Amino acid sequence: VQWTAEEKATIASIWAKVDLENVGHDALGRLLLVYPWTQRYFGTFGNLSTASAIAGNAKVHAHGKKVLGAIDNAIHHLDNVKQTLAALSKQHADELYVDPENFKRLGEVLIVVLASKLGSEFTPQVQATFEKFIDVLVAALSHGYN
Ligand code: HEM
Repeated sequence: VQWTAEEKATIASIWAKVDLENVGHDALGRLLLVYPWTQRYFGTFGNLSTASAIAGNAKVHAHGKKVLGAIDNAIHHLDNVKQTLAALSKQHADELYVDPENFKRLGEVLIVVLASKLGSEFTPQVQATFEKFIDVLVAALSHGYN
């Protein structure tokens, strides 16, 4: 994947405004609520039965931060996302058995959360750049599935 200087600058300036803990919690919470079949992977997380249970779940909070931490790492290695996430991809494929379709769903909820936090700053051009990043992220995480 080739990134233009403008795309890189857009990602860097938007990402600098992202609170990883807060956005991570909201994105994972939204995933579990909007796509409830994803809850089956988080059997050890306790009560996920209602919106308020998900919102108040400390494990969702901690895990959302971890997921955003991995995305943050990818954003800091835009020219090398596949290698950066290679071990994580293998782990999701071989140990966690996560259906890679779910990576796209997480990408979707992340876009929605960013749009709701950033409001008018999340312009169509910004969205287009982030959609490209999500494609790269999903491809990298799906790469270890063979
Ligand atoms: C664990 C990242 C998507 C299910 C993890 C970990 C990271 C991570 C960093 C922790 C690994 C460790 O501690 O060794 C990501 C990223 C995603 C993503 C960047 C972006 C798309 C998903 C999706 C699902 C999922 C969509 C399921 C629907 C899990 C599960 C664990 C995990 C079940 C283990 C949780 C635990 O028991 O602590 N992921 N993940 N991941 N991920 Fe993902």
